[in-house]
Amino acid sequence: MFEPRIVCFFCKWCTYAGADLAGTSRKQYPPNGVVVRLNCSGRLDPQHVLWAFREGADGVLIGGCHPGDCHYQDGNYKTMRRVAFLKRMLSDMGIEPERLRLEWISAAEGDKLVHIMGEFVDQVRGLGPLELADARGKGNGDARPAKKPAAKKTAKAAPKGAKGTKKPAVRKSK
Ligand code: FES
Repeated sequence: MFEPRIVCFFCKWCTYAGADLAGTSRKQYPPNGVVVRLNCSGRLDPQHVLWAFREGADGVLIGGCHPGDCHYQDGNYKTMRRVAFLKRMLSDMGIEPERLRLEWISAAEGDKLVHIMGEFVDQVRGLGPLELADARGKGNGDARPAKKPAAKKTAKAAPKGAKGTKKPAVRKSK
């Protein structure tokens, strides 16, 4: 069975603590997620999400504090706008916007995290693996970086006095 790779961007004040609570309460949830801890969901840059997809994620889950509970006042409102923008962008790139999900999960909601994680993994499993090559064919979103040119080899400087390093004598004109 296909096991999706999920990259989770969790705010440390709420969802990350909720995941911690689920763990310490010995709740079972799919181990498909790799968690990246953020100081606030508002710290998430759209490029982080694109990077995750480019590096092989099949889905991205973002977790933040409930509206009104953000420790930085309006960080999660910014996240909400960014996610709406990203979903449109992913769709234009030929990537299903359902692969990106934003949830508000507080530090006390370990059960909610377990439920959302299971639901999201099932949803992404239903979508199948993300084929970026296909996505590129449909749209113009080449999310993969161009290959770096091979590093140029530089000749090592020969030690002083080594054979063959003597400067040719310059003949003085009369
Ligand atoms: S501090 Fe949690 S979303 Fe801003």
